[in-house]
Amino acid sequence: MYRIPHLDIPPLVAAAGTVRLPGSKSISNRVLLLAALAEGTTAVHGLLASDDTEVMRAALVALGCTLRDEGSGVGDGDGAGSVLHVTGLAGRLAVHDAQLFLGNAGTAMRPLAAALALLAATQGGRFELSGVARMHERPIGDLVDALRPLGCTIDDLGQPGYPPLRLRGERGGHLALAAPLQVRGDVSSQFLSALLLALPLVADTQDVVVEVVGELISKPYVEITLNLLARFGIEVRREGWQRFVVPAGSRYRSPGVVHVEGDASSASYFVALGAIAATDTPVRIEGVGAQSIQGDIRFVDAARAMGADVTAEANALVVRRGRWPLTGIAMDCTAIPDAAMTLAVMALYADGPSTLTGIASWRVKETDRIAAMAAELRAVGATVEEGPDRLHIVPPEPQAWRSATIRTYDDHRMAMCMSLAAFNGLAGAPSPRALRLLDPKCVAKTFPDYFEALFGLVQAAPGAVPVIAIDGPTASGKGTLAAQVAAQLGWHLLDSGALYRATGLAAMQDGVALDDEPRVAAIAAGLDLRFGQGAEAGRVWLRGQDVSDALRAEATGLAASRVSSLPAVRQALHGLQLSFARLPGLVADGRDMGTVVFPGAALKVYLTAGAGERAERRHKQLISKGIPARLADLRADLEARDTRDMQRAVAPLKPAEDARKLDNSQLTIEASVAQVLAWWAERGPLQGLAPR
Ligand code: DC
Repeated sequence: MYRIPHLDIPPLVAAAGTVRLPGSKSISNRVLLLAALAEGTTAVHGLLASDDTEVMRAALVALGCTLRDEGSGVGDGDGAGSVLHVTGLAGRLAVHDAQLFLGNAGTAMRPLAAALALLAATQGGRFELSGVARMHERPIGDLVDALRPLGCTIDDLGQPGYPPLRLRGERGGHLALAAPLQVRGDVSSQFLSALLLALPLVADTQDVVVEVVGELISKPYVEITLNLLARFGIEVRREGWQRFVVPAGSRYRSPGVVHVEGDASSASYFVALGAIAATDTPVRIEGVGAQSIQGDIRFVDAARAMGADVTAEANALVVRRGRWPLTGIAMDCTAIPDAAMTLAVMALYADGPSTLTGIASWRVKETDRIAAMAAELRAVGATVEEGPDRLHIVPPEPQAWRSATIRTYDDHRMAMCMSLAAFNGLAGAPSPRALRLLDPKCVAKTFPDYFEALFGLVQAAPGAVPVIAIDGPTASGKGTLAAQVAAQLGWHLLDSGALYRATGLAAMQDGVALDDEPRVAAIAAGLDLRFGQGAEAGRVWLRGQDVSDALRAEATGLAASRVSSLPAVRQALHGLQLSFARLPGLVADGRDMGTVVFPGAALKVYLTAGAGERAERRHKQLISKGIPARLADLRADLEARDTRDMQRAVAPLKPAEDARKLDNSQLTIEASVAQVLAWWAERGPLQGLAPR
């Protein structure tokens, strides 16, 4: 995935609206594994599409499972409309030798290690499991220690107790399953979950008993495991949280269809959002609710204790601000380790200190989350004390809030949590502060579209959405430049010329004379135009018809140039252009972006290139498309259009007084983009921040 270096979040002031959650990570990866081990085909609805599920899927394919996507959900983060059909191995290895790369997905590494260790030991095989550098710092020794006494051969390929691992064995090998297995439960509950997911593969003639040594943390995740095992035909008997019996004769059977519910940990950011900023219309979160099987749903109670007003429906949460400021909290978070991070950020908006305890497991997650959270909360102005398994957070005094560059540690939850620190204006910060989040795309681990979802719900302080205006004459390359700058920054794009082109085209379609000002203005005011997003970026529909090519035609350009000189037409398109300024920012290209439409733009660029150069570019472009053209004609045409654009009475083409001029005659497009981004880095809203 394309990663942008940072994302600037202007001060935010309100939140409202509906968000549909992506599928639960914990459920998705467990269901994938269970479906892959089971007999038969499972139709999985609403599977999460993210980095962590992607590595699991790739591993299962490498092991010989058949995965078939139906619908459009792949890669869009919200798999709500999509179905994945998984045909399982029925407990028999199809591939006996594989190297599996599992990124930083603990939910893939631990259960696959357990399952493949048992399968290799009995059916013969040799499997190597590795991940990113951080995965190799995340412990797995307790799981290995539980498996070796059974007769599994597990080689440490790096530091003992950590991935990478090699799991191997000979066909016909026997496992010592008569005595109970022992596993520690106080570092990660995933070791127990991994065993429970894998042992049914070998519990054919006898019960297999697992005993937990020490206190079991994160019990709700073990409940998810038990719940999903039951759906695949395995009824594990549980005696307290200390002893689990996988019954003899266990065999995975596909339930046929599984629906993955929305991710309750991901819901926590939107619950917090509603508690902080939904003062009017609520934030409605669809995909989890009162019926959720995920432990993190209990975050809702903690959020309520801090002041959130939450109504839980069966499969949705409706959240408003209740008390404000929020109330500080003292809480043992053992049961909700992931969602508890969100409480740490809510603590910024409390009327007093908060203390989170029982969070030692944070230290072995995607990063050392206690240290990371303490550092970043301090960066925005809080006073934080950290202990081995606790955080004590004193919210900033209003005047102590700071703009900050926030590090995200390749940890999706750090990025999602810290985005919520942008509401400092609501906490009384006298001059509300923007935030710069580094490596925002790390959210792809569990929620690829998190920021799109967030920005779909929140409002920035008036005038705070940053705009970069790029103006210049025709064929100067501003469209390409603007599109690439927008992509680099992760911002919206306005090709204002397309609005004038569409108006000209619509007028021609309707047989309206191009100088009939009132009628052309009426067409502009009622323009039924849609710009493609995502995979359809660059395509445009006018009145439901794809006009992407017609818009670029020379005749349309000429018509645009004529209708754009009519003041009533420019007026009619003004509001539409302003509406493109949406979070997190807008790159707008045209003739009057910096002078008339966005006079307050944070950066204005005026592109120039000689008429000869521009005519040559256009000539090459047309010839490459097989359209005959004469250079001299094109040049005359360009110059005529420039003259009209520059001499018209309203909004003539000219550089804004504060525009940076960029002559790109001799520059590659990459060099032009780099120049604009360098200017932005100099002039952006976060200038003067101390680098970190
Ligand atoms: O950038 P372009 O070639 O797509 O623009 C088409 C015409 O629209 C151009 O002749 C000038 C006019 N235009 C304008 O007047 N104001 C803008 N902001 C953008 C384009």
